[in-house]
Amino acid sequence: MGYAARFAHLRRKERPLLLGIESSCDETAAAVIRGREILSSVILSSAAEQAKYGGVVPEVASRAHTDAISEAVRRALDEAGTPRESLDAVAVTYGAGLLGALLVGLSFAKSFAWALGIPLIAVDHIRGHMAAAYLADPALEPPFITLLASGGHTAVLYTKSYTDFEIMGSTRDDAAGEAFDKAARVLGLPYPGGPNIEKLAREGEPNIPFPKMFRGAGYDFSYSGLKTAVINYCHNKEQKGEPYSRADVAASFQQAACGALVERAVAAAKERGCGVIAAGGGVIANGWLREHLAAACRKEGLRAVLPEKKFCTDNAAMIASEGLVQYRAGNFADLSVNACAHIPLGKKGKQ
Ligand code: KG4
Ligand code: ZN
Repeated sequence: MGYAARFAHLRRKERPLLLGIESSCDETAAAVIRGREILSSVILSSAAEQAKYGGVVPEVASRAHTDAISEAVRRALDEAGTPRESLDAVAVTYGAGLLGALLVGLSFAKSFAWALGIPLIAVDHIRGHMAAAYLADPALEPPFITLLASGGHTAVLYTKSYTDFEIMGSTRDDAAGEAFDKAARVLGLPYPGGPNIEKLAREGEPNIPFPKMFRGAGYDFSYSGLKTAVINYCHNKEQKGEPYSRADVAASFQQAACGALVERAVAAAKERGCGVIAAGGGVIANGWLREHLAAACRKEGLRAVLPEKKFCTDNAAMIASEGLVQYRAGNFADLSVNACAHIPLGKKGKQ
């Protein structure tokens, strides 16, 4: 009998106590939630270490996870004030991400769940980003529009139920976060790119007319044209020896990149007659985007559900939140579940 089958007849609680574990990139995170309430969220980041290399080095990330995982889980349980024996399940990211990094969290979660004799739940990282909004507003219920803007995905989805999403539009090339990271590199900003562009943009004006974002049919995005425009602008100025403001480039890029997200999400909500836009992913931590999305929603009589910034970037509370969805569906994992580097949006990875 597989491990998941042990829990086929589990009496599932209304508000279970879940431990979430996340180790897909450079944050080792653990969190405890009860129902849709966050009891603790611990993030031990190796970002400062990674910054020395200008980006995430997989082996450096794996080693940092190995050093930090026990500590992160212990602190999450302590801060929640819950003994491990009272946990109802362990939810862990199994993909997408860096394989070695994922394996640290996944192996830990397997042994932890097995030792306690409780279900293991395998969570798709990007579903976790989408589920951060369920904790931001515990009363939120589908249907709603989800605006997803992360380092690997950019999409507008019609969320019919917690397990059924229609992708209304997605990026045709770079994701929004990736565009931020690449633009940051052109501007000579250190890793991580997104927050550093935002910081520099505060000192500038969005006065450079970068080309309007791709306007294809539907709600698709394309960021490669904008990225090329930023590169060309800077190189042109440098070749001619003309001075230019890096802060203005950052502000203009930010406005173009984030404006497209606001525009598409609001249009999708209007088309579907949805009153709510729930947002998730690292780029949603961007202050300009948050302000303008909230303002556009107010103007259109819509409600924006924006997770706090620390729950937009990688954290384990969002993994526990998606874990709750899977717990309610009785979707438990076997101990043979493997880590998965790539999981296409809307599909299940190999388990
Ligand atoms: O959602 P995330 O963890 O990526 C994936 O899971 O794929 O977010 C990471 C991305 C990075 O590209 C980072 O530059 C971007 O989110 N990001 C931001 C900000 N904070 C993080 N982009 C713009 N403004 C920010 N404040
Ligand atoms: Zn992420």
